[in-house]
Amino acid sequence: MDKMWAGRFTKALDKEADDFNSSLHFDCKMFRQDICGSIAHAQMLAKQGIITAGDCEEIIDGLSGILEDIENGKLTFDNEAEDIHMFIESELTARKGDVGKRLHTARSRNDQVAVDIRLYLRDEAEKVNDLIYTLIEAIRDKAEENQDAILPGYTHLQRAQPITFAHHLLAYAQMFMRDATRLKDAVRRMNYSPLGSCALSGTTYNTDRYFEAEKLGFYGIMGNSIDGVSDRDFCVELMSAFSIIMMHLSRFSEEIILWSSWEFKFVELDDSYTTGSSIMPQKKNPDMAELVRGKTGRVYGDLFALLTSLKGIPLAYNKDMQEDKEAIFDSIETVQKCLSIFAPMIATMTVLKDNMYSAAQKGFINATDLADYLVKKGMPFRTAYKIVGQTVAECIEKNKVLETLSLEEYKAHSELFEEDLFHEISLETCISTRISAGSTGYESVKKQIADVTEFINGKESIY
Ligand code: ARG
Repeated sequence: MDKMWAGRFTKALDKEADDFNSSLHFDCKMFRQDICGSIAHAQMLAKQGIITAGDCEEIIDGLSGILEDIENGKLTFDNEAEDIHMFIESELTARKGDVGKRLHTARSRNDQVAVDIRLYLRDEAEKVNDLIYTLIEAIRDKAEENQDAILPGYTHLQRAQPITFAHHLLAYAQMFMRDATRLKDAVRRMNYSPLGSCALSGTTYNTDRYFEAEKLGFYGIMGNSIDGVSDRDFCVELMSAFSIIMMHLSRFSEEIILWSSWEFKFVELDDSYTTGSSIMPQKKNPDMAELVRGKTGRVYGDLFALLTSLKGIPLAYNKDMQEDKEAIFDSIETVQKCLSIFAPMIATMTVLKDNMYSAAQKGFINATDLADYLVKKGMPFRTAYKIVGQTVAECIEKNKVLETLSLEEYKAHSELFEEDLFHEISLETCISTRISAGSTGYESVKKQIADVTEFINGKESIY
């Protein structure tokens, strides 16, 4: 097939070079957006008297037919074409003759691809947003069911203080809520139209870029035509947002993997989200969580691949920029898959409250509360801290815990200790007396659940 740009060449492109150059096998994903962009462009050309109304109708008819035929499988992508833009334009010309050749007036593939990818990412980001909300909902529901489940909260992976499982889960809800707002924020900056930037310098035709922008649902136009064709910040921003989502999913995965181990046994994943071993009959492996953790590296890699591709290229368009697509497509698809497997995995996970509770009982995790007990009786915190430290040391030596040390043994450390200390250091009291905002206290967790619900109810479109 002759290239559209064949005019100034005397020889055909080498076959291997042609394949190397072609992006159709991945940018064909953007066929809908390419056609949408072209329809808006044709309408603008007609409105401005650059093409006739009749030609515009013919072009739209041709493009709509192509869209229908691709969607129902009648038209398949011909690998001869260099990219999706060339493919659709040459198909239009094959169907409509000279009229089809008028479409590319006052436009270049450079602004065309910049429009297509924005429209594509806007659609796909909307799906990511929906998936994030579904996950937040699954987390909120699990939290609601587990407000009474007490487990050790950890720092340095050492038992630190008692918390409820609801409180722990709600920390993840906060992360994913930030992710949703981060995504929206990136899309808000992306949603400006580069169409009409043409190759780089604009055009001599009396175009109406605002009209096209509005037709395509952009907030406005990009203010500089050189930036219009060379900006890929939005890909980097989205991939950064995706990387952060993956980092959150990966931390969550790591905890689920730990919690499912025999050493913790805090949760049991549903059979439908675990796999067995080919040799060890007893195994039930958290493969989905491990894969999510593993795929995080891939999404970080996509971000770094594009950042590195962009760092040395001069203005304006350079073919290096074609490398944006495989990276961003891989990144967005990976995030979508991970989010969509995660929500049902959380929803179907069984929480083993008794195991959590017994882990919380053995680790001196109420030592802070014991120090606070002395402080409330008038002792300075540093002194109380030291006395409780010595008490813990005695327990370890005698193979006891704070609950099993006798009052006499306590009194040897301080006269301020009374019988009520045992009530004060019970796990339930440790939770119910946490009254600060955002804390693990029962009331605070109720409020956090209500806040997450309010966030879910306030969901709106990404742009
Ligand atoms: N396939 C190209 C890309 O993805 C489209 C733009 C090509 N422009 C050009 N002047 N070669 O970036």
